[in-house]
Amino acid sequence: NVLILDFGSQYTQLIARRVRELNIYSEIKPYNNPPKDLSQYKAVILSGSPFSVRSENAPHPDLSEIKGKKPLLGICYGAQYLSHFHGGNVAPSATREYGRANLSYVKDGEGFLDGLNEGSQVWMSHSDTIKQLPEGAVHLASTHDVENAAFKIEGEQTYGIQFHPEVYHTTDGKKLLENFLVNIAGLNQDWTPDAFIETTVAELKEKIGDEKVILGLSGGVDSSVAAMLLHKAIGEHLHCIFVNNGLLRKNEFESVLDQYKHMGLNVKGVDASARFLNALKGESDPEGKRKIIGRVFIEVFDDEAHKVENAKWLAQGTIYPDRIESVSASGGPSAVIKSHHNVGGLPDYMKLKIVEPLHLLFKDEVRRVGKNLDMDPTILGRHPFPGPGLGIRILGDITAEKVSILQEVDAIFIEGLKKWGLYDKVWQAGAMLLPVNSVGVMGDERTYEKCVALRAVESTDGMTADWVNLPYEFLQKTSNDIINKVKGVNRVVYDISSKPPATIEWE
Ligand code: XMP
Repeated sequence: NVLILDFGSQYTQLIARRVRELNIYSEIKPYNNPPKDLSQYKAVILSGSPFSVRSENAPHPDLSEIKGKKPLLGICYGAQYLSHFHGGNVAPSATREYGRANLSYVKDGEGFLDGLNEGSQVWMSHSDTIKQLPEGAVHLASTHDVENAAFKIEGEQTYGIQFHPEVYHTTDGKKLLENFLVNIAGLNQDWTPDAFIETTVAELKEKIGDEKVILGLSGGVDSSVAAMLLHKAIGEHLHCIFVNNGLLRKNEFESVLDQYKHMGLNVKGVDASARFLNALKGESDPEGKRKIIGRVFIEVFDDEAHKVENAKWLAQGTIYPDRIESVSASGGPSAVIKSHHNVGGLPDYMKLKIVEPLHLLFKDEVRRVGKNLDMDPTILGRHPFPGPGLGIRILGDITAEKVSILQEVDAIFIEGLKKWGLYDKVWQAGAMLLPVNSVGVMGDERTYEKCVALRAVESTDGMTADWVNLPYEFLQKTSNDIINKVKGVNRVVYDISSKPPATIEWE
């Protein structure tokens, strides 16, 4: 187990992520409230920080039980801290250094820089620099602008680096962390989804005790896996709420609710379709629709949550990328509530404590955890689906009739993908109902009916995406099925736009 002492750097979570990619478990603890018992930690990493070591209120933790006693790595502020308070000198640098740099002098410090060569790219983000190394330090590497980019303390397993090994742009960053954790600290690389499940369930038990938790299920992978972890930890004290906003896929409310019940979850299905459709009447602006759906969702969820007496916690299926997104979207680290961010955010007056068991995981890790929880592969493999659902796939205003047309079209498309073995090759797929009527001919009759667009994309995170080259035979059959079976549609088109410049959803 690795202890990461957090001094408030925006990259601290990434350190944990990289360490776990090495199959080594790590825990982040705030520097001002470190664990009392350090015996379980085999190595300690000090994070970066927005502070300068020279400022009055800079983090100044007591390392007397750590430094010289356990393998210790200081990153950026961490390295400056090891210098400044141990006989070195840290001063503002002449040039603030952000971004790319290359190692120019690399000396191997007992395997610490193994595999890192001259020229290896590293990522810098600091305005102070270490002018003079601390007592007993051995200089290990420089960059063009930074003399003391890496050092070790003689006779200790203490290392400091000015650059950030945890960011993607430090090419050999993961190798360096592996050198430190495996070669130097002697940690085993045996952290697995099973180990995550075990420790998370134990933590949840301890944190929540016998208090009640409310969780909004969406049918998606994240909220479902979060629910299963909590269920394992606190059983019936977990109260799940699954809201039908009337904008889900065909039969999804019933079938997913059924699946949840089979998983043993204490789940209440709330059919609020009419309430949503009513509120949406006449609204055709995409953002307007999103806002209405968000607001009504909160109202419905709030009503239901209040029926659970004495609930103390709100659980969310927030995963690591959501956090990055919501933090950057709001311009500061104060944004906390997120899972229903996709449809709004919860009101402050709910005053529930937040628990987010997946907040350190990435999507692929969530799926692996779900698999090890023996969850149904159909839930784990389900395509992403937007919170506002078909509401943003019906262009223009929304009516019950349009929803039902789009549900039929979508079902034919998705079932077809499954039948043809294409579903798992596609990252996300769906249909859009366009506000366009066009002329057609069926039998001997002129028709003047709706047009639908099919969309299937490949992506890893939804940030960029490309359309999928689906076989023509499949498109041909699907188009035929849709026009023959769905009353009100006489034309099908396939969307061949990438993101950017288009987006995945049309609204
Ligand atoms: P775009 O359309 O922005 O979509 O390329 C990227 C991914 O995000 C999903 N999406 C949403 N998800 N609430 C959500 O929960 C929303 O308002 C929303 N808008 C888009 C979209 O389905 C795709 O996976």
